[in-house]
Amino acid sequence: MIFCEQDRRKLIPIAGGKGGVGKSMLTANLGILLAAYGKRTVVADLDLGGSNLHTYLGMKNTKLGIGNYLSQKDVSFERILQETDYPNLWFVPGDVLVSGAAGIMVSQRRSLIRNLEKLDVDFVLLDLGSGTHQNVMDFFLASNCGILVTSPQSPSVLNAYGFLKNAIFRELQRSFGNNKKISEYLKRIQNDSTPNSTPKLTEIIQGISRFGKSHRAEAEEVVQRMKPFLVVNMLRSPEEFTIINGLRELANRNLTVQLGCLGMLFHDDTVMQSLRDQKPFIEVGRETFVAAQLNRIAQKLVQSPRFPSMPLSLEEYSDSFELAQIEIAGDFENHGGEPITGTSERGGSITMPEGIRDSDLVSLITAQKQEIEELKTTIRNLTLGRQGG
Ligand SMILES: Nc1ncnc2c1ncn2[C@@H]1O[C@H](COP(=O)(O)OP(=O)(O)O)[C@@H](O)[C@H]1O
Ligand SMILES: [Mg+2]
Repeated sequence: MIFCEQDRRKLIPIAGGKGGVGKSMLTANLGILLAAYGKRTVVADLDLGGSNLHTYLGMKNTKLGIGNYLSQKDVSFERILQETDYPNLWFVPGDVLVSGAAGIMVSQRRSLIRNLEKLDVDFVLLDLGSGTHQNVMDFFLASNCGILVTSPQSPSVLNAYGFLKNAIFRELQRSFGNNKKISEYLKRIQNDSTPNSTPKLTEIIQGISRFGKSHRAEAEEVVQRMKPFLVVNMLRSPEEFTIINGLRELANRNLTVQLGCLGMLFHDDTVMQSLRDQKPFIEVGRETFVAAQLNRIAQKLVQSPRFPSMPLSLEEYSDSFELAQIEIAGDFENHGGEPITGTSERGGSITMPEGIRDSDLVSLITAQKQEIEELKTTIRNLTLGRQGG
């Protein structure tokens, strides 16, 4: 695992649990922006079985990619690192040419991760697949500061939460892999298929500490060193902050994770348009709010040599969530206070993510209701405060 705050190279996996939330869109455009800021950047398509990052980069998929690397002995990792039309930007294609790479072996996955970790560049962005498959989890855990993309719709938010919970659990499993008893204990929890049986993280840590006093601190440290960030995509109105705050609250309370927020993006049909034009969104939609919002995220990364620690420039912005909300509230103001309209997201089927219990859902919704009024006031005040000084 790369600890980004200590390493010059920032390895940033981009996950989300749910499909269609904008992971690939974010990866491609963030990559182009970081490269434009002079940062040597690699974007890698790790959505094996569903590779489409090339379309967001406005490229045709004709080059060797991860599918070839995994299935052909004579294809080295160096050979699948492709140049792009952009200076400073390289692209690792997925498995469009040779599919079936979704079922890769553990050793192949490890060698892939090692190669990605070794890249001597400033940023490596990994576009991950949906779900909580072991592949996706291990790619996500290649770094301590992955990005979770979510839309403000509750299935997507719940999937983000479920993903984070799974990721932490997996990281505990990896960290205690050499301790037979703890491994067995974690395996038992994992295999328990009784509905709503998954214990809370605090209960799991309690369980781990029963195998030896020092293990509690060890487990807590495993969780603490994870510094995930949220990017909220396809926002249409400020009311939608509420569910995002609910997610933050839930992650903090149930998973003891301090979830950061890198930024929020409006819903904008220009994103679809750019796909139809086969050009990167950031070029087609140069004048849109979303372009400016993406640019803010890129700037935060560029200006944070010790990312995930962020130099929040203004003292009153006490945390990254607050800053992101101030930014987007300003955008809504500039948009005339009108909700964003446009074509709706395709409604996907609602499935409960793995490891989520009904009580999680209930507390998320309750948190949402309680916060809605409070939040409106806060945001109003924040926006006013900003205008005032
Ligand atoms: N901010 C946005 N506004 C409108 N549509 C968007 C936005 N971001 C992504 N999309 C659209 O949503 C769909 C899914 O995006 P994609 O990046 O492929 O998701 P994922 O990689 O998470 O599956 C695409 O059709 C894309 O054009
Ligand atoms: Mg994708």
